[in-house]
Amino acid sequence: MSLKMIGQFPVCRPRRLRQSGALRRLVAETRLDVSPLVLPLFVRAGRKLRKPIGAMPGVFQFSPDELVREAAVAQALGIPAVLLFGIPEKKDTQATGAYARNGMVQQAVRLLKKELPGLLVITDVCLCQYMVHGHCGIVHAGPRGAKILNDPTLKLLARAAVSHAEAGADIVAPSDMMDGRVRVIRSALDGAGFDDTPIMSYAAKFASAFYGPFREAAESAPKYGDRRSYQMDAANANEALREVALDIQEGADIVMVKPALAYLDILHRVKATFGYPTAAYAVSGEFSMIKAAAARGWIDERAVTLESLLAMRRAGADILITYAAMDVAKWLKES
Ligand code: PBG
Repeated sequence: MSLKMIGQFPVCRPRRLRQSGALRRLVAETRLDVSPLVLPLFVRAGRKLRKPIGAMPGVFQFSPDELVREAAVAQALGIPAVLLFGIPEKKDTQATGAYARNGMVQQAVRLLKKELPGLLVITDVCLCQYMVHGHCGIVHAGPRGAKILNDPTLKLLARAAVSHAEAGADIVAPSDMMDGRVRVIRSALDGAGFDDTPIMSYAAKFASAFYGPFREAAESAPKYGDRRSYQMDAANANEALREVALDIQEGADIVMVKPALAYLDILHRVKATFGYPTAAYAVSGEFSMIKAAAARGWIDERAVTLESLLAMRRAGADILITYAAMDVAKWLKES
């Protein structure tokens, strides 16, 4: 039947199927469960450390021992995967900490894979936390201001990805938005014997004000300028499809759209166009907005969080990366 035929029938009562919870559940087109949830976690040096992030209530920077405890709780709740971000002790202009054998992420991955072997560990591959200037690539200070150099950056990203795989990462997730990075990372992984390690690329990553709270959490705010010469312009949807096509061509196994809620059109088109495993990243600002409004009693945190994630699934997301993953897992158990 086509939509044109609607109205030609004498009795048309969609409300018949909305009469009870049981009926509504029976005909629900989209469902939420724990299996697509990914919990982002921040790790820094220390012991017994749980340092709260001011702008993200309930989110912490963990020392490795505490990270394992938190990840164990997540796993017990049925969350299949975590996404790791490292905060290094020292920053420099070559992002050394990003690919150091004993860097924060590398240490944390080894520990997590030893203590919780069944938990999938995804690592964010980027340089910004490790750079003095906070940019995702090597900076060249030229006559017309700072320039983020593309190709020299690729080598460092590849080293970071290989170092994560060596530590035992199950999936590497490049978030830098340099051109050609998926190809270079794929070939470096293959060359190092990690041809089985999948790449989840932040394929359509927009230059977004919604990342504000994250930059406090990861201590990665750019010291000058912004990320608009490498991350995408919020105005562009066709370009997002080209970015995703490129990453798939270069060897991405999973593609991501980020942020999520304000970019559901992109999510839908990406899933409809490529049919690839598609991740939505509900970013820090999305999380903090809900927290802030809920703290004032203005919205229902649980209902709004679940509705947002359901909308991402409906738009086409297979994987949901969210700081609320633990609460969501608990809520889903209760309901
Ligand atoms: C690193 C990175 C960022 C996020 C994920 N990886 C920050 C940025 O690009 O500035 C944002 C995540 C969030 O806001 O939750 N490049």
